[in-house]
Amino acid sequence: MEAPLYLEPRLEPRLASLLRAAGFLHTLAGGLGSPLNVVLPDQIAENLARFRAVYRRHRLSGEVFFAHKANRSSALVRRLAVTGAGAGMDVASLGELQHALGAGFTPRQIMATGPKSPEFLWLAARCGAAVNVDGCGELDDLAALVRRYGLPRVRVLLRLASFASPGVRLLTRQSRFGTPVGELDALLKAVERHRDAVDFRGVGYHLDTTSLAEKAVALEGCVLVMNECRSRGLEPRVIDVGGGFGVNYLADGGQWDRYTTELTQAVMGRREALTWRRHGYGLRYEAGTLRGGLGLYPAHRPVAAERYLDALLSHPAPSLGRTLAAALLESLYDLCTEPGRALVDQCGLTLARVLEVRRAEAGEWMVRLEANADDIGLEEHGVLMDPVVVERARTREPTTDGEAVGVYLAGNLCLESDLITRRMVFLPRLPRPGDLLGFANTAGYCMDFSADQAQHQPLARKVAVWQDEGAWRWSLDDQYWPVTQGEGNHED
Ligand SMILES: Cc1ncc(COP(=O)(O)O)c(C=O)c1O
Repeated sequence: MEAPLYLEPRLEPRLASLLRAAGFLHTLAGGLGSPLNVVLPDQIAENLARFRAVYRRHRLSGEVFFAHKANRSSALVRRLAVTGAGAGMDVASLGELQHALGAGFTPRQIMATGPKSPEFLWLAARCGAAVNVDGCGELDDLAALVRRYGLPRVRVLLRLASFASPGVRLLTRQSRFGTPVGELDALLKAVERHRDAVDFRGVGYHLDTTSLAEKAVALEGCVLVMNECRSRGLEPRVIDVGGGFGVNYLADGGQWDRYTTELTQAVMGRREALTWRRHGYGLRYEAGTLRGGLGLYPAHRPVAAERYLDALLSHPAPSLGRTLAAALLESLYDLCTEPGRALVDQCGLTLARVLEVRRAEAGEWMVRLEANADDIGLEEHGVLMDPVVVERARTREPTTDGEAVGVYLAGNLCLESDLITRRMVFLPRLPRPGDLLGFANTAGYCMDFSADQAQHQPLARKVAVWQDEGAWRWSLDDQYWPVTQGEGNHED
């Protein structure tokens, strides 16, 4: 075999220590089944503190709203609720709003975003959460609800889109959400018309891009809009820069570069295949020409999470001639952020038991897991990252030897397409039935966003784990409350 092309996960100390606790993980999966989702609530508090430190460094006030959609866990949300000032919840459905309230967040700490049903809008207004409004229609609906049910004025932010920077030839990408800045006037007229029902707090955006330059244009665009609002006699104070701070999934940038280079070579037929049936992850080789583009998450991203926020705030405003943080600070605007993926970085692990190891028709190693592609959404989200083999302790045949091997990971559905990885995954040695594969860092969208019960396969259970005087303790996710966490089950 050619040299293995590893894509090793970046593991911070807490998650690394958990993955070393093989006996504990096997006890959990033995009792609760495979797949099993494991969340680390203490890590979300640490991640929040890192975001807060960036606010402090730039002397900015405002809240960090966790975009709940990234993970359904109760433990993570409850842990965040006890962190104190500066944390809030970005909820994007009626269920998420109910969940945030039930976890202990006060309505003042909650912002309703995304597409909204009448029930969701009503409950947000009834309890006093802020509403991040998509456009004039939603604002009209909200105002009508407030009047019909005699509710207090609702705090609103306006989600904007399609920013263009004056003098700079850069447009932000189009989104089907939010109101184009070009239609601002009509939106502000609606705000003025509904003054009795809504309390206009600010404007914002959420852009699905990794580009700092595009986000700088949007953030400066918001500052300019805020100034315009003030000249109309409105008094907004908050700018919401949404989420999309990203995660650095991989430990080694060199591995990522080598892998993507070799993948391209493989698509062009210049080396042995690296993917199942020459899947190209968006690349095609047609008539001697490489076409398409790699549709993958940039898994090695050194400037991600709070570092990305820091870089954005330190970025020059495209036309104002000072940093974006300075532009916010001089007008005393509060900064809101809505990190989802980044706030649950290193907060979760998905375990799957190896059921079978065999050679496929063409000789490739196939490892069948007790989980399917919807349980482990890394591929679905374009994140290529190796699992960690958590060996089952064996009294006979210890396996400290073995050599690196390339395998395909197949799921437990009776579907040709149920591959957990369409790429060959290199492992330090061949796993054996009964071992667990630990997929690290799945808490952001890759754990429970798409999981279902196809073929009556069980949904993964979820447990919260934490360290207590050197021992790992656990409870079912929905049994976890930070105030009683000392009472979990444990293995010394
Ligand atoms: C409005 C809004 N805010 C925040 C987020 C969270 O984004 P991320 O998980 O990339 O930080 C999303 C994601 O879709 C979103 O739509």
